[in-house]
Amino acid sequence: MQPRSILITGASSGIGRALALVYARQGVSLSLIGRDRERLEDVAAAARAQGADVSLGQLDVRDQDAMSEWIKAADARRPFDLVIANAGITTGLAPGDIAEDPQAVRAIIGVNLIGVLNTVEPLIAPMCGRGAGQIAFIGSIAGLRGLPYAPSYCATKAAVHAYSESLRGRIEASGVRVSLIIPGFVKTPLNDSIDAIKPLEMTGSEAALLIQRGLERGRAVIAFPRSLYLLARVSRILPIRLVDKVMARFRVNIPQTEERIR
Ligand SMILES: NC(=O)c1ccc[n+]([C@@H]2O[C@H](COP(=O)([O-])OP(=O)(O)OC[C@H]3O[C@@H](n4cnc5c(N)ncnc54)[C@H](OP(=O)(O)O)[C@@H]3O)[C@@H](O)[C@H]2O)c1
Repeated sequence: MQPRSILITGASSGIGRALALVYARQGVSLSLIGRDRERLEDVAAAARAQGADVSLGQLDVRDQDAMSEWIKAADARRPFDLVIANAGITTGLAPGDIAEDPQAVRAIIGVNLIGVLNTVEPLIAPMCGRGAGQIAFIGSIAGLRGLPYAPSYCATKAAVHAYSESLRGRIEASGVRVSLIIPGFVKTPLNDSIDAIKPLEMTGSEAALLIQRGLERGRAVIAFPRSLYLLARVSRILPIRLVDKVMARFRVNIPQTEERIR
């Protein structure tokens, strides 16, 4: 499927920005959501230079009413055939920390989970009504197993994985495809903030091309790099405390998010 009307959240940076530019061309309408006006305008200019028609939504994905209103209005103008719930933040622990700040935990749940729901909920019924379209969720390899460096980040991604699987089972019979994207390390500002070894790290453009190819093929799961994904899955069937011990040997420092509950 070659989508013509696409909604992407978190399009002002990283993977979202790369996705916008991978899809941008003549005849394609991009609806791009983020909070930073300047960075959104910059992506819009680059996408328009490639021939795309671009609408910008300077929105916080946690704002349910604003998201619903903007998304429904955009869908009424040009029905979406692809939505990518991508916006996300990270938070975690420094070596020696015991627990995450409860406010940071609630903030990441707001963005990474509630924000995803605010993105897709307004479109589920309209897409099912049309019997067409595709809903894509950006999860993470960190959502496949809890990691001791980022409890709440892993929890939000595991929740997104489970939600997308449930939705897929529920609505695909209506003609709407649901895809879960499970990236490993992708070089972006989010990823740059993490101090750790990052095996098989790829660029945003490389990730965006893999995502585009997987979505065009209607894949249920688009996971990359493949070897890291398989390793994470194997870790789920190994003895649990052994995996805990191996994880604890890595030195990882993930800064606490500055985001707070709105
Ligand atoms: N990079 C990786 O290695 C990696 C791996 C696995 C999964 N992921 C996931 O990929 C997604 C994109 O991450 P990225 O690495 O591309 O990070 P990034 O470069 O920091 O981009 C994050 C995007 O999310 C937007 N965003 C954050 N909070 C928002 C909010 N409250 N409302 C609206 N937009 C918001 C940001 O927009 P503003 O700054 O304009 O608010 C920005 O456009 C995230 O869900 C992340 O968890 C990333």
